[in-house]
Amino acid sequence: MTDSTTASGTFDVTLDVNGIAYPVHIEQDRNLLSVIRGEVGLTGTKEGCDDCECGACMVLLDGRPVNSCSYLAVQAQGRAITTIEGVMTGDDLHPLQQALLDEGGVQCGFCTPGMIMSAMALLADNPSPSEEQVRIGLSGNLCRCTGYTRIVAAVQRAAAVPHA
Ligand code: FES
Ligand code: FES
Repeated sequence: MTDSTTASGTFDVTLDVNGIAYPVHIEQDRNLLSVIRGEVGLTGTKEGCDDCECGACMVLLDGRPVNSCSYLAVQAQGRAITTIEGVMTGDDLHPLQQALLDEGGVQCGFCTPGMIMSAMALLADNPSPSEEQVRIGLSGNLCRCTGYTRIVAAVQRAAAVPHA
């Protein structure tokens, strides 16, 4: 962290979100979720429990899944942050997004962005996961609506797509 520290304990930092540099002026104790939604203006990442329990706020930091409600924004400087807004390629849905639609794995959709971020990290580590491995990989993401079965099926469907 660095750019500059003010006497009031705020910082000028630059966050790399989906490949775009966002200069923000924030308090030292702001969590990454609130900065992504507030200062950066990307609201696809959701606030659920705000206590590291539900996974709704999941983003990728250098490709690894992180609950952004429990991560200091100032610590994210210099790291590549990926949010749900960064997963499409042009107008094309990410294979996980398409598979969730195809399998009926989206109901209210509140959990979906976080699920996708966790699933992206899972597939990067394990391109062909078993059902059990998918369930373990998504165990930090809660869904109140679907019962998980269709979400798990969607991740396995996406795994069959090259470069998911
Ligand atoms: S809002 Fe971050 S884990 Fe629930
Ligand atoms: S689709 Fe509603 S919480 Fe998962």
